[in-house]
Amino acid sequence: MRRTVATAFLLAGCALAGAFRAWPARAETAVVQPADPAQIEAARTSAQELGAALKDALTQALKAQGALGALQVCHEAAPTIASGVSAKSEMQTGRTALRVRNPANAPDDYERAQLEDFLARQANGEDATTLESAAILEINGVKEFRWMKAIPMGEMCMQCHGTAVAPEVLAEINTLYPEDQATGFKPGDIRGAFTVRKVLSSP
Ligand code: HEC
Repeated sequence: MRRTVATAFLLAGCALAGAFRAWPARAETAVVQPADPAQIEAARTSAQELGAALKDALTQALKAQGALGALQVCHEAAPTIASGVSAKSEMQTGRTALRVRNPANAPDDYERAQLEDFLARQANGEDATTLESAAILEINGVKEFRWMKAIPMGEMCMQCHGTAVAPEVLAEINTLYPEDQATGFKPGDIRGAFTVRKVLSSP
């Protein structure tokens, strides 16, 4: 646990260094302290719940209706599942990515910096399944807990995010998400990340 916190703090430092480059006009955002281990554990639980619920819905839909039908299920169910899990854990829990399918999942500046850091760490030989980061941020005077964990691509994901998505599936993706950026991935690539946030105090 201590190691996790130390890592989180180091990472927070990296994010901060990146942050000042990435956010010239917003120096109000800063990593102020390492996150509390209990809160990190709660975030992991919440993200695991989201992951499991999404996987269940997806697996069932794929089995029953194939990729085309499953797309529709994912489109309708993913946001609802995420709000249900968030309400239960009292932590805003969702998914984000550098290249998103649903624009509502687009990262904020901190999340973008972490996602870029995950890619760099993977390029440096770290195992994508273990990439995680946590920090307490202060954004315009509001303290916020943040936690993220990378989501690597699996074989099953290729049907809808891969390099050779079937034409009819691709057509439906483009209908549901005209600005889709989330195809062209290979197994093992970092597709995105779970992201958890909780406001700790207002000014
Ligand atoms: C049946 C098609 C389908 C499959 C299979 C699928 N996804 Fe998706 N994925 C979607 C759709 C549709 C969305 C947008 C959901 C929404 O509207 O929030 C999405 C969104 C996401 C997001 C959120 C960020 C974004 O781009 O909006 C991540 C991360 C993601 N998928 C990862 C995966 C991974 C990892 C797998 C394999 C375990 C996978 N997906 C399998 C269709 C699919």
